[in-house]
Amino acid sequence: MTGLPRVLLFALLLVGADIAAAAAPPVAAVKPGHAAIASAHRLATEAGLEVLDKGGNAFDAAIAVAATLAVVEPQSSGIGGGFFMLIHRAADGREAMIDAREVAPAAVDAKAYADADGRPNRDAATNGPTSAGIPGEPAGLAWVAAHYGKLPLKASLAPAIRIATNGFKPDARFLGRLQERREVIARYPASAALLLAADRQVPKPGWVFRQPDLARTLERLAAQGADGFYRGETARALVDSVRAAGGNWTLDDLAGYRVVEREPIRFDYRGWRIVTAPPPSSGGVALAEIFNILRGYDLAAMAPAQRYHAIIEAMRRAFRDHNEYLGDPDFVKMPLDMLLSPHYADGLRASILPDKATPSAMLPAALAHEPGTDTTHFSIVDRDGNMVACTSTVNLPFGSAFVAGGTGVILNDEMDDFALVPDAPNAFGLRGNQANAPAPGKRMLSSMSPTFVFGKDRIGVLGTPGGSTIITQVFEGILAFMDGKPAATITAQPRYHHQYLPDLVYVEPHAFDDATTKALQDMGYTFKQRDGWGFMNVVTWDLGTGKLDAASDPRGVSGLGKVK
Ligand code: DON
Repeated sequence: MTGLPRVLLFALLLVGADIAAAAAPPVAAVKPGHAAIASAHRLATEAGLEVLDKGGNAFDAAIAVAATLAVVEPQSSGIGGGFFMLIHRAADGREAMIDAREVAPAAVDAKAYADADGRPNRDAATNGPTSAGIPGEPAGLAWVAAHYGKLPLKASLAPAIRIATNGFKPDARFLGRLQERREVIARYPASAALLLAADRQVPKPGWVFRQPDLARTLERLAAQGADGFYRGETARALVDSVRAAGGNWTLDDLAGYRVVEREPIRFDYRGWRIVTAPPPSSGGVALAEIFNILRGYDLAAMAPAQRYHAIIEAMRRAFRDHNEYLGDPDFVKMPLDMLLSPHYADGLRASILPDKATPSAMLPAALAHEPGTDTTHFSIVDRDGNMVACTSTVNLPFGSAFVAGGTGVILNDEMDDFALVPDAPNAFGLRGNQANAPAPGKRMLSSMSPTFVFGKDRIGVLGTPGGSTIITQVFEGILAFMDGKPAATITAQPRYHHQYLPDLVYVEPHAFDDATTKALQDMGYTFKQRDGWGFMNVVTWDLGTGKLDAASDPRGVSGLGKVK
């Protein structure tokens, strides 16, 4: 099953090879012979496995998982939102990030997000149709089917359509998020009709949630591909209801939406190769900067307090840069050569004080972030060694809370990821500048960081939600993977985060033991406990045995990592 001869071949190929050789073509020579999927919902993981059983590959399974998450976890992602999907094709080693991120409509007007005195209008930025970008997810799913799948889109969408039609019982997390967004949902009749009980309250546990309109919208997508969403009946319904509720979408905005395939960011760290998300994600650049700074230390040999000191200072410096420079690469010129350069990192490392926190105020620029708690990530490896890491979002829980009448589609509120009002924080406390200013057709900056980690003997596929903490959580997941931790430990381990401003180390309880906490406090660090860390979903692949391991974050209530 696990193909021992192939593994031996792989081992031979590796003799004397460096990690660059390990990272690319030889991987295609090894096949796990079985498959693994980890996602934030049992029904989505099972939908992916069902499509694999029907002869689909990891990319068909990814369509099934994403579309099912849209149905069963609409607080986190959906066809009214967008995704970044990192893919690795075993047959030829092709790697790409499929960018199905939302874009601003042509009539975007930054003034609509501030009052006459320039004060931010947070309601316009996060609620209702003004907050919604033109969705990318439906085009992204059709793209994956057309370019990478083995099955017709219709077959991969079938489980999602079935569950939307027959219904399912939402879990406690779903109902909790619904409670958080209830007041906004209640503003819009189509949203209330879909998501609330007749008394406009959150339905009781045991409620069976059926979505016949969404099932029909998915059927049109299945039958006609992207045109089934971006043209014709669905497009007209979307535009009519957005405009009737004060939004400014046009049919041309929808018809003009384009998926973009982008070269991933790749960097090496102590014998490992990391392949991750390029702009318009800020994640890959920040991860590269953090690891490039840390390459000057032997983390494993350091006492815990010294190790975390180095890591937190690397995070602080990467976050100072990341919003300053980054935006949609089709619109802004970014100093990527500088940001990704080991020499630049050498300079940053040299500024780290040996036994003392560097107050963020001592470093130029001031960008604050606050993390969030939704969005979704799934990881897949199939029997042939095709791999998918996909992070998908509608931004805040239930996106804009606006359902476009007749479509069952809950629109995203991704416009808030733009720097809509200069220097005003977004929902995650992020303050951007010109690089991330809104413009017609432009993609808003994201922290989503789907990632592959290639080592000589194992590969990791991972990612997580969590707003700006996505980047640091993925960083910690990569470190744990490199340390040889199993998937369940990688998803469960306590998390910590520093994002330059506010100048705090966010921690989960027990992230550091008492002695380490005290030592770090003595160096000048201030800790703040917080909830709302992302639900990480991880698949690991041992190239020696061919064994796959999958785990879904225990912080979620319905997640499932399964090997089959
Ligand atoms: O693209 C982004 O970075 C955000 N829209 C992601 C939002 C998120 O992760 C929400 N909370 N966990």
